[in-house]
Amino acid sequence: MGNLSASLHGRDLLSSADLTRAEYEQVFATATELKREFRESRRHVAQPLAGRNVALVLEKQSLRTRVTFEAGLNQLGGHALPLGEGIGFGVRESVFDIARNLALWIDGIVIRTFDHSVVTELAAEARIPVFNALTDDEHPFQALADLLALREHFGSLEGRVLTFIGDGNNVYHSLALAGATLGMEIRLAHPDGYGPHEAIVARAEKIAIATGGKIVVGRDPREMTPGSDALYADVWVSMGQEEQSHARFAAFAGYCVDSGLLDLAGPNAVAMHCLPAHRGQEITADVLDGPRSLALEQAENRLHVQKAFLVESIGR
Ligand code: CP
Ligand code: NVA
Repeated sequence: MGNLSASLHGRDLLSSADLTRAEYEQVFATATELKREFRESRRHVAQPLAGRNVALVLEKQSLRTRVTFEAGLNQLGGHALPLGEGIGFGVRESVFDIARNLALWIDGIVIRTFDHSVVTELAAEARIPVFNALTDDEHPFQALADLLALREHFGSLEGRVLTFIGDGNNVYHSLALAGATLGMEIRLAHPDGYGPHEAIVARAEKIAIATGGKIVVGRDPREMTPGSDALYADVWVSMGQEEQSHARFAAFAGYCVDSGLLDLAGPNAVAMHCLPAHRGQEITADVLDGPRSLALEQAENRLHVQKAFLVESIGR
């Protein structure tokens, strides 16, 4: 890890718009080194997180996020403190008081919660870095893992076209912001009534103007797909939206990444999914489990981009 950068020392990651292009490259470089070492020996010689304690506050369900943060911290000599749902953020105790207390004892806070403002409030109050592990608005570590997987596959990101099929949700928001920062074209095909937050799209568009990237939002998957390097699928019903399932199933019926759509994208296009997946809904089983899927590479990279960010932010 020769890439330790002063710019990321002590830094939060709350939004995919928090990082510059150079900082994305920094995290990718450190993650690539960690991934290579881990693939070779399943362990790391250097322990840059030795003595570091990080709280995990996961107020929604999780497999990848929980395991990759806990394992990643352990692999680099650090320690994860899962706080569970019982902490009652803002209910038993104010976010302000929780933040002030945690900062006395530990080195960072990973949080997955509903309202994005809880995370920004926590970060404003805490004197230690806060890492957003998914809110209703964003999923920045997912975007880091995804774009590293895409870069590994194609060798570059600038000018690449990623088309998100479905809900203008947290995962889309982070991909739009991260992709714009890295000079990509990020398209979205969504049904009426399920578009992204206008403020986030406006922010991504503004970033894209400076980087040569592009943000395109439309309705028809078949119109948006041709020329895409990647088609991205996520669930139709995100965590916290379960009571809307019936309406969402009806609205998203035509928004499935299948082999026909992938062929329409182009012969070299790949399929992406952040997982968990519902085969036969937002993506077909043959595509998700087939040779043109990057889903497992994306999941593998969660471990390494998170380790990389933790090393850069709170390591040594
Ligand atoms: N992709 C992702 O964040 O997975 P989990 O919800 O299982 O953590
Ligand atoms: N959009 C999904 C992503 C899960 C990783 C959700 O928020 O449930």
